[in-house]
Amino acid sequence: MLRALTALMLTLSFISTAHAQEGDTPDRSGTGGAQTLEDIMARQNGQEVDNAFRRNATGDPDSAAGIASQLGTLGGASDPELWRALRFGTANITASNNGPAATTLIQDGGMKWLQFREGPLATYGGYLLVGTLGVLAAFLMIRGRITIDGEKTGRKITRFKAVERFGHWLLAGSFILLGVTGLVSLFGRKVLIPAFGHETFAFLAVGSKWVHNNVSWAFMLGLLMIFVMWVIHNLPDRTDFNWLRKGGGIFSDGHPPAKKFNAGQKLIFWSVIVLGTSISVSGLALLFPFEINMFAATFAKLNAFGISGALGLGELRETLAPHEEMQYAQLWHSIVSFVLIAIIFAHIYIGTVGMEGAYDAMGSGEVEEQWAREHHSIWADEELAKAKTPSESATPAE
Ligand code: HEM
Repeated sequence: MLRALTALMLTLSFISTAHAQEGDTPDRSGTGGAQTLEDIMARQNGQEVDNAFRRNATGDPDSAAGIASQLGTLGGASDPELWRALRFGTANITASNNGPAATTLIQDGGMKWLQFREGPLATYGGYLLVGTLGVLAAFLMIRGRITIDGEKTGRKITRFKAVERFGHWLLAGSFILLGVTGLVSLFGRKVLIPAFGHETFAFLAVGSKWVHNNVSWAFMLGLLMIFVMWVIHNLPDRTDFNWLRKGGGIFSDGHPPAKKFNAGQKLIFWSVIVLGTSISVSGLALLFPFEINMFAATFAKLNAFGISGALGLGELRETLAPHEEMQYAQLWHSIVSFVLIAIIFAHIYIGTVGMEGAYDAMGSGEVEEQWAREHHSIWADEELAKAKTPSESATPAE
């Protein structure tokens, strides 16, 4: 009993000494300045350990023992000191190739990126997608399908020309392929290896990477096409405020007037353009490693305008290793893609099961006149008036 009590007292006194040492410089004389058991334990407990004592302990060639003597050192640095210098980027390295990243042999921040990619990125990204599907399913159950209220006329109005539909389906088809192959890359290890084994996953991973890298060009072309063809119809105007104030008429009777695209569609259009461009640029940075470095420059701007401070991010680092640029590009590419996939889930929902008559616009290109009158009344009136007015270029009969 007495022994147990003594052991408890000793343990407690160790804990309190460890606490007392927090914040002070720990005594590392016992290890000759190298890290102590307390440092290791603190790191394992997730505490921040100031690494300066290691970063700076990378050997001193000037105090090296003569190399000729039996116990002479290799230039004053021991192996651990050399590895440390490599890790903290202070070693003097000459590489046989001279790409931007050639002399970064160990990149210290890589572990944080890896953990973030496997942890919060995959977890919250997954929640976002599953949550969005859940919300859409609930919406369908509560609101039901948006049907055509009035009597159908049987007459059709051309809504999208073949080239517009081609641009849309090029964008949509490539986006779906990119989404699926991107998710295979991110979740493959966690989900596909346990389900199908390493060999099947290896095949899927190689194929996914190939598809992802090559189909990206089709996505960028589709993005450019729809931007050029539809930007004019997506500039905000007064009808949008009214449409938004009435919530698009989704939960009320009647339909607020709209031109070719209503405010909801304009929001989808601009999300696709802005987020799609951001995904494309960060994707290009990944496709051509170390060539497009945007993050250090962006962080410098965020610091200069006080944006990082206002967001509570503190001072962002303005000097990044080439690999860190790539790691930030990967994270940004994935985060923005998750957001755009969630938005596109909602878009696909409304273009198919969510609304009667909508799919025809992109399927055949022709919509029911009554659908057009209900959802895009201003546009429908213009189109019907155009159809009634004889073409100006037509030669009048004599
Ligand atoms: C199976 C997938 C998809 C279906 C069924 C679908 C369906 C549709 C339909 C029916 C329209 C015309 C709506 C109208 O006449 O007012 C449309 C428009 C549009 N789609 Fe898609 N779409 C799909 C995927 C995508 C993807 C992946 C993107 C972009 C990454 C996209 C971007 C757009 C944009 C920007 C518009 C114009 C704005 C709007 O109507 O919201 N679509 N789509």
